Amino acid sequence: MKFHAVISEFCVAKPLKNKWRNQSRRINCSKYLCFLLMFSIVLLIFLRHLFFFSIDARPSSHHHSKKKIHSLVGESSSQDSCLGRYIYIHDLPMRFNQDLLTNCQVLTRSIDKTSMCEYVQNSGFGPRILSSEASGLWNSNWFWTNQFMLEVIFHDRMKKYKCLTNDSLVASAIFVPYYAGLDLRRYLWGFNTSMRDSSGFDLINWLKQKPQWKTMWGKDHFLVSSRIARDFRRKSDRKSDWGNNMK
Ligand SMILES: *[C@@H]1O[C@H](CO)[C@@H](O)[C@H](O)[C@H]1NC(C)=O
Ligand SMILES: *[C@@H]1O[C@H](CO)[C@@H](O)[C@H](O)[C@H]1NC(C)=O
Repeated sequence: MKFHAVISEFCVAKPLKNKWRNQSRRINCSKYLCFLLMFSIVLLIFLRHLFFFSIDARPSSHHHSKKKIHSLVGESSSQDSCLGRYIYIHDLPMRFNQDLLTNCQVLTRSIDKTSMCEYVQNSGFGPRILSSEASGLWNSNWFWTNQFMLEVIFHDRMKKYKCLTNDSLVASAIFVPYYAGLDLRRYLWGFNTSMRDSSGFDLINWLKQKPQWKTMWGKDHFLVSSRIARDFRRKSDRKSDWGNNMK
């Protein structure tokens, strides 16, 4: 009320200079200016509140969520370097990964010069190149690595990641260690589309049973594939079309 009175007083006390002869027009104009002034003041107050509110609110809510995560992990330290970087690895049935390596002969095509079993060793890096085998360019840090082994290499690296967690609620992302490309390699040539798609459906059905899936409907899940995207994006269900339907 007091504020409003000050505004009216200000407006009445300082009318516009006598530029217009028409009195009613002058009053209209000063009313208009008065409204503008009041509106700007209210806007300023509003913005100021908004500004201070956001400055005050940010650290406290951040602090709160930090605390919540710490109590979940069971840590009291406030400097958890893994915060926001935790990863949960799904414990997939062996048919989705390890079995493919154990039965590596099924990955080898008849036209392959080298058995895929050679490349499985050294966590997917393949056999070490001995310096006697090649020119002096190669020293003992080089391997004969097959291009389709990225899935194996990445899975092995992921197992050694320092911010792993067994509590998927704390995890920022969920890794699905499925060897999609190696699995598909078995059926890419000469098999009907239902054979090529079957492992993908099998995986999805397995994942959908897990509580981790229901949290974000899989949007926080990731997997690594060593094959190009086109191999997983078949255009139609005609047998002659390339790849499977995993997308
Ligand atoms: C998760 O649980 C398994 C078995 O219960 C254990 O071997 C592993 O070390 C645990 N991992 C972490 C990151 O706590
Ligand atoms: C696809 O091939 C498999 C064996 O290779 C066979 O058992 C299956 O019936 C075939 N499916 C269709 C839809 O033709």
